[in-house]
Amino acid sequence: MTTATALDRAGSRTIMWAYLVTGISLFGLLALVGLAMRAEQAGWINVDPGLFYALMTLHGAGMITAMVLCGMGGLWYLMDGELALDRGIAWAAYVLIVLGVIGVLLSVLPGHFGAAWTFLYPLPFVGATWPNWATGAFLIGVALVMLGWIVWCTQMLGCVLRAYGGFRGALGWDLVFHHRAFEQSGRREPPPFAFGALVTAIDGLLSAAAGMLVGVALLVHWIDPSVALDPLWAKNLTYFFGHTFANLTIYMAIGFVYAALPRYANREWHTSPVLAVAWWATLLFVATAYFHHLYMDFVQPHALQYVGEVASYLAAFPPAVVTIFGGALLVYRSPLRWTMGSMFLYAGLVGWLIGGIGALIDATVPINLSLHNTLWVPAHFHTYLLEGVALFVLGWIFWNLETRSGQVSSLAVRWLTGIGIFGGGAVLLLGWYVAGAASVPRRYAAQPDPGPAIASWASIGAIVLCIGLIVCAIEAVRLARADEVEVAA
Ligand code: HEM
Repeated sequence: MTTATALDRAGSRTIMWAYLVTGISLFGLLALVGLAMRAEQAGWINVDPGLFYALMTLHGAGMITAMVLCGMGGLWYLMDGELALDRGIAWAAYVLIVLGVIGVLLSVLPGHFGAAWTFLYPLPFVGATWPNWATGAFLIGVALVMLGWIVWCTQMLGCVLRAYGGFRGALGWDLVFHHRAFEQSGRREPPPFAFGALVTAIDGLLSAAAGMLVGVALLVHWIDPSVALDPLWAKNLTYFFGHTFANLTIYMAIGFVYAALPRYANREWHTSPVLAVAWWATLLFVATAYFHHLYMDFVQPHALQYVGEVASYLAAFPPAVVTIFGGALLVYRSPLRWTMGSMFLYAGLVGWLIGGIGALIDATVPINLSLHNTLWVPAHFHTYLLEGVALFVLGWIFWNLETRSGQVSSLAVRWLTGIGIFGGGAVLLLGWYVAGAASVPRRYAAQPDPGPAIASWASIGAIVLCIGLIVCAIEAVRLARADEVEVAA
């Protein structure tokens, strides 16, 4: 195995930071767009509905892509430490994604494309208030993002297969079924984050195949509207792509927790047979849970509805029982150093757990009858994306900055950031849960009562959250400008 040394990893670090800085900057800008949408729903500002839906499309597509970019950069860097990777391929993936983001920006900002980031057929083509070119620009932009994603997933898959001896080694098969012989052989099991790379690569390629298939079909329909598509076929492919792509952001970013939290706790996070089996389950359930998006589609074969409910429930066990519980045990009675980095990594586990419970409630068929397409949906996914994935990313960024500069942030800065991001974030999230339980619909620029009243206090939470993010950004820049005392390997 060709393992890169710390000295020749400067180029790899540049790649990681290019992905991280692009992703986190996009995140920061789109948080302000999110705040503007919430303030509009509260009636504080007046935004034309066409513009609101365009901004909602930009916010959804952009935030998911931002988290994907951060996950890609960090995980690529971690795997590059296992087996030196071709940097040209990583740059190619990056350029494709940036070009895709530019396509989406063009379609949404001057073009006002507003069919939501899920571009569900036939929505982009029916009653469109935007020019036809904007639909094409959006679809081509998403296709470019997909191409970059395919390049990255293929490189990751090649990396894990070569590094650990094919699928058998990468899955930890012998570790699980021939444990004693495996230990005696002196072979090394893949580190926990490598399972994240494997699962993301496989499920990522499957979801990208579905996304490209439906994307090309939509482009054909855009060029020649007489070519009709089957809406149920399109919906299955679209949600297989969209749900999986968004879900994988968690499984990429959890690699940061596996890699950095033990260093703060001065302990090790080993790959155990239980951890390996948990990731096998994740591999299967992430790819099959998407059916819960189609509960309302009476023409969907019934058997698939059961698959959706069962897979959604089972998908919760590996993270909750193995990773989140494992993280809590790792920290319990350890000499954990509380810094910005460890605070974000640990708090992210809490957000993941709470958001996961919210998702499970919604994935329960009789409850989904009431909660479907209410604000309960943004409530649960913002919980594990904003207070989960984004915190893992911030934790990884601060781990790198703290290690590089040898400095940590003052208690006052940590409190300010904590009150802003966790406190303000909790108020913002609570608004969506309460409104969802009161049946306020999602994706409405002008909401029925009690939507606007709830949006008012939720917007105050969003403002406090954005202040916390600004404090955090200033602190990150301060650490980044400090002299380097240690090179993070
Ligand atoms: C400051 C933080 C944020 C604020 C204030 C915010 C605000 C909003 C608002 C108001 C909506 C529209 C909800 C509706 O009425 O249906 C929304 C939707 C959405 N947000 Fe956020 N958000 C934030 C962070 C995030 C993050 C971190 C992510 C992902 C990583 C994210 C992903 C999405 C997605 C995917 C949608 C759905 C768009 C759609 O329905 O097509 N948001 N957000």
